Amino acid sequence: MAKVLGISSGTLNGSNDAMCKEALMGAKEAGAEIEFINLHHNITIKSCTGCIACVKAMMGGKGRICVQKDDFLWVLNKMLDADGIIMTSPIFENGVPGIIHTICDRFGPSMDRGNLMIADELNKKNGGKGIDPRFMKDKVISFMAVGGSDWGSLVQMDHGMLAMSPMWKVIDNDKFQWSKTILMDDEALARAHQIGINLAKAAEDIPNAKWQGPEGVCPHCHMNNFYIEPGTTHAICGLCGMEGELEVRDGKIVINYPEEQYALAHDTISGKMKHGEDIQYNEGRLDELKKNSDEFKTRKAKYRDFIKPIYPAMESAETEKELVKA
Ligand SMILES: Cc1cc2nc3c(=O)[nH]c(=O)nc-3n(C[C@H](O)[C@H](O)[C@H](O)COP(=O)(O)O)c2cc1C
Repeated sequence: MAKVLGISSGTLNGSNDAMCKEALMGAKEAGAEIEFINLHHNITIKSCTGCIACVKAMMGGKGRICVQKDDFLWVLNKMLDADGIIMTSPIFENGVPGIIHTICDRFGPSMDRGNLMIADELNKKNGGKGIDPRFMKDKVISFMAVGGSDWGSLVQMDHGMLAMSPMWKVIDNDKFQWSKTILMDDEALARAHQIGINLAKAAEDIPNAKWQGPEGVCPHCHMNNFYIEPGTTHAICGLCGMEGELEVRDGKIVINYPEEQYALAHDTISGKMKHGEDIQYNEGRLDELKKNSDEFKTRKAKYRDFIKPIYPAMESAETEKELVKA
């Protein structure tokens, strides 16, 4: 029996909870065992600080360490134990809310399939804790986004980004605009139900699971968000990072990718390995400067000493001093 986890980041018992639960009803009907999380209900997830302790520890054979102590690991464990995930998010400022960006960040480089493979090799060679095999397990995921207006042009790409690091297979990725009253929209509820069925079926047969959504402009990842180099037809897919030329064909915009781009797509092992190599090279340059360059140390000290950051506790201490003086 496939395990399907529903995750909503809407208000408790709001539209996103309902859409997620409707999809879970579909998944249950299709034979899945289900669980449900609302990310705002008794769960605290703090921001990634960018310290990269997680990936350094993993590469060094110490397992996955995070400086933040909160409920992220609990949520991650729930995700890792599921075969499939249905995620529903309210649309905030065109995209996903901060909590979903935070989860993406907390996945970070240490959930990247390419980095995991490199760390696994290193751990096998040098000894160490090894990689939790659940990190490498294939998984399927579907997304729904619910918005209160017509702003939502980034949300499917943001959702796709969450699946990108661990290389989870996306089955559906829908958005519902002008949907404050979605509980009364039978078509939307039926779609959520179908998304749940699709996901549960995909979770039963992960090696053969396929994208069920519309084709999209990007023939590789099905997204419709591109960075267009000004003054050219050169475009970069906002999700998979493939680069090609835009062209209008039969009244439709299409993108032509050169063959070699397919090996560089951000959601392929080859693309991840290339990205990993580039990062390793740059991290190496930084380590070298830190160890051997007096000029680098002087420049670092210049900015460190120019001004120190202030913070609330310090301000109140200052205020207290002022009060004592007064
Ligand atoms: C901070 C904030 C930003 C929002 N930005 C958008 C937006 O860009 N586009 C949109 O369609 N709706 C936007 N909304 C409306 C929410 O998407 C809507 O309230 C949400 O779908 C309600 O879901 P819930 O009932 O599950 O909490 C925004 C709401 C908030 C609070």
